[in-house]
Amino acid sequence: MSMQAELELFQVEFNQALAETLNQQLPAQIAPKLQQAMLYSVSNGGKRLRPFLIHLMAKTLDINTQSTLPAAIALECIHSYSLVHDDLPAMDDDDLRRGKPTCHIEFDEATAILAGDALQTFAFELLANADMSANIKINWVKTLSLSAGYKGMCGGQSLDLEAENKAVNLTELETIHGLKTGALLKAAVSLACAAKPDLAAEQTQKFEKFAELIGLAFQIQDDILDITSTTDLLGKPQGSDQKHNKSTYPNLLGLCGAQQKAEQVFQSALEQIQDLPYNTQSLMDFAQFIIKRQH
Ligand code: IPE
Ligand code: IPE
Ligand code: MG
Ligand code: MG
Ligand code: MG
Repeated sequence: MSMQAELELFQVEFNQALAETLNQQLPAQIAPKLQQAMLYSVSNGGKRLRPFLIHLMAKTLDINTQSTLPAAIALECIHSYSLVHDDLPAMDDDDLRRGKPTCHIEFDEATAILAGDALQTFAFELLANADMSANIKINWVKTLSLSAGYKGMCGGQSLDLEAENKAVNLTELETIHGLKTGALLKAAVSLACAAKPDLAAEQTQKFEKFAELIGLAFQIQDDILDITSTTDLLGKPQGSDQKHNKSTYPNLLGLCGAQQKAEQVFQSALEQIQDLPYNTQSLMDFAQFIIKRQH
């Protein structure tokens, strides 16, 4: 089966599990407007690549994919929250996300801020309540908090904003992309590894390095698509980076240079996992899928 077909199958199952979880655990009567904004932001249209990576990792490591589902939903909640805040006027000021008006346009800014906040804390509620050993759950909480916070996505988002209207060098840009985007992709792999406590530390490290590299390749491709794709295909405004004079790979290396860099990073990612004693073919296909994607 092609990666695209496998992803589509996964999306159907995942979206159903996600909807059930949200509907059961976010009762409308507490704060109906906030509940609607949370459902709106997380429910539709996302590619679900981070949960899919957890799923592929679980299959690679021979872990029951149902047992990692709470971590997959939690990670998608964190990612969706990061997008809601990323689109706010104070950040990238975008009005379209996943083919729909952004949360602050559909609702209002205060509601979008709160929806992001509440999606973030809900992610940790899910991890704490998962049917896993206390040790695994503590590792999950450590992993997700580290990758979403100051030392991960939030740190990267801050550096990204600081780098607007500035010339940054390649090393600085790699740090920004690694944190703002790489950290949550790496979290997908780390969360799956944590669900297999007997996995050797050096194998975990190789899987994690693989994920860091595909995270970087993913954001380079995101920067490229901001120039080469269309608003319709992307479901978010094409040209947003240019509008804000963002520091991106195409800005620094040109379009061709950025494409070459993505290819290079992809090759290094593959090297990390090629000798592991697991069938890593689906992870390699996923990496390929990420740099070839058109939206
Ligand atoms: C968008 O991520 C933000 C970046 C980190 C580049 P995705 O491209 O995975 O967005 P969705 O979840 O499919 O909307
Ligand atoms: C987003 O980077 C990274 C996040 C943590 C949300 P971008 O700002 O490039 O993402 P898009 O292009 O708006 O999806
Ligand atoms: Mg941004
Ligand atoms: Mg943005
Ligand atoms: Mg972008």
